[in-house]
Amino acid sequence: MASTPRPLVAGNWKMNGLSASQGELDAIIAGATGIAARTDLMICPPTTLLARFAASAKGTPVLVGAQDCHAEASGAFTGDIAAEMIADCGAQAVIVGHSERRTCHQETDEAVRAKAMAAARAGLTAILCIGETKQERDAGATLSRLERQLGGSLPDRLDPKGLVVAYEPVWAIGTGITPGPADVEEVHAFIRQFLTKRDTAGADIRILYGGSVKPSNARELLSVPNVNGALVGGASLKATDFLGIAAAYA
Ligand code: 13P
Repeated sequence: MASTPRPLVAGNWKMNGLSASQGELDAIIAGATGIAARTDLMICPPTTLLARFAASAKGTPVLVGAQDCHAEASGAFTGDIAAEMIADCGAQAVIVGHSERRTCHQETDEAVRAKAMAAARAGLTAILCIGETKQERDAGATLSRLERQLGGSLPDRLDPKGLVVAYEPVWAIGTGITPGPADVEEVHAFIRQFLTKRDTAGADIRILYGGSVKPSNARELLSVPNVNGALVGGASLKATDFLGIAAAYA
């Protein structure tokens, strides 16, 4: 049975955005009304803007998420942020296991899983990222890599309200290169199968595509079966581009 969860278009601002970026959020909120009838919209700003953005977006259709969290609820972890703190800011979600965290901070599947469980504990939706490197794709190891990442980093419970999976091929992030629709379809079908084998609720978990999504390619990528939205990096920094991507569901 084909699954059609409500789409989610989420913007990952990464380490971009200052207080002057408030205008972009305001423009996204202003432009969200029609789009939000069909699509969930979310912005994940840097932590410094999280509370401010959550307050601005309160009562609007735009959700706000963080980009990472610590697995523990509190303690001596200088510089880290607990999932409970993110929820306390008024945010609804947190990205875990982004490839930039896996690479720059040596996050293992086990660490990512602990973060996904922390998100659930705090009542946040975890956007769990997986993806293969160029080398792995060239070696024909894409699906086995994804299988290992899913097996190692999915939380115990598959709750469609509390979990989103984002497929982000590492080689497509920030490069302007995207996989073809047939490749995306193969991978998303594989992820769907993995999730539903684990739990029947897996049919309703949203699977996002991420990596060089822009308004000009959004319609093609987002109409692939089992693609239930996008995780957008660079193009989410401009309200017009972000809304242009979300409008693919119009
Ligand atoms: P780009 O859209 O800039 O390729 O980034 C994708 C991404 O990493 C989102 O998390």
